[in-house]
Amino acid sequence: MMSNRQVTDCIDEWKSLEKEYSVLDADFEKYRQQLDDLYVLQERCVKMINHQKKRYQHLLDTFKENSGIINGEEKKAVNEIEAQMNKRQNNFKQMEDNLPRDSGKLLTAILGPMSVSLLKKQDRFKYKDEYEKFKFICTIIMFVFSFTNLFLVEFRFSDALYHFVLLWYYCTVTLRETILRHNGSRIKGWWVFHHYISCVLSGVLLIWPDGPVYQLFRNQFMTFSLYLSLVQVLQYYYQRGCLYRLRALGEKGNMDITVEGFQTWMWRGLTFLLPFLFFGHFFQLYNAYTLYTLSYHDDCVEWQVPASALIFLALFFGNFSTTVLVVLQKVRNLNPKKPADKTN
Ligand code: COA
Repeated sequence: MMSNRQVTDCIDEWKSLEKEYSVLDADFEKYRQQLDDLYVLQERCVKMINHQKKRYQHLLDTFKENSGIINGEEKKAVNEIEAQMNKRQNNFKQMEDNLPRDSGKLLTAILGPMSVSLLKKQDRFKYKDEYEKFKFICTIIMFVFSFTNLFLVEFRFSDALYHFVLLWYYCTVTLRETILRHNGSRIKGWWVFHHYISCVLSGVLLIWPDGPVYQLFRNQFMTFSLYLSLVQVLQYYYQRGCLYRLRALGEKGNMDITVEGFQTWMWRGLTFLLPFLFFGHFFQLYNAYTLYTLSYHDDCVEWQVPASALIFLALFFGNFSTTVLVVLQKVRNLNPKKPADKTN
């Protein structure tokens, strides 16, 4: 049984908790008030940015319409205004990075009307870092799956499970990439689209019925998947290296890395990675060719064969041309006076 002394202690503790609660209550009220003010301010800033942008466009159109009839003095003033407007566009971009944005039709259709804007730089970095880690863990799982299917088991069910995991992975990755792009990532549209096409490919392979033609392609596909997992591991180390170095570059007062240092590291990483990537692209072309020849096989009755041949061909063209374009763009940005696009 509880003694009186213990009850008195409990009553004292309750009194102190009461005091603590009243501080918490006041703090929460303050927080709620500030949150309301913050929403009002956010809305006002978004409205003002849109208004300014609209008026700038109106002014630019008027300048253009009257460009033939303005005198020297006016031309000087117009040039000055246009230069100021260009600067302001950059300022607007920075402001917009810290304000909630409309999620767009696709994200709204998938997630419903909610905001996926990450307003703090640290949160954006964390989300990207988490995305890279997620891809890495999935790559390891896929490596294990394709290795098992290639060397240890030969069941259509186990293949189907693997295709299903791939389908889930690509769906998840496209969603995360859309959120990343919404938050200012410069991921090229093709890489996101490439993952959409990969979803379709995984779906087609999943429902491809077992038969002689499936068996003729199966081992080649598992070998390709195994190779792709290895390339994705290399890609992971390169992308994460870029991410951390870019973050260090963006930090004020960080003297550990310079733009030149970043570029040297990036080129070293890229020249190591590119042969593996190009080999992967030609492997995709080879897959398309094998599937194309299989589509003329006597036993081939499945539509999945020519369909996956076409998808592999599209993947080859898109991946190869986009990678070449990315490299050419980086070569163009090599001018030491103008830092690479990535560091902007
Ligand atoms: N998937 C997802 N995101 C990618 C990407 C890809 N394949 N390639 C680049 N990105 C992202 C970068 O992380 C960066 O994001 P950030 O703005 O959030 O920092 C942004 O896109 C811009 O990157 P960029 O400077 O264009 O390229 P990079 O130096 O990061 O990478 C390559 C260049 C060529 C190594 C990369 O694009 C790549 O690996 N491409 C090949 C992919 C492929 O073909 N896969 C199939 C292999 S068979």
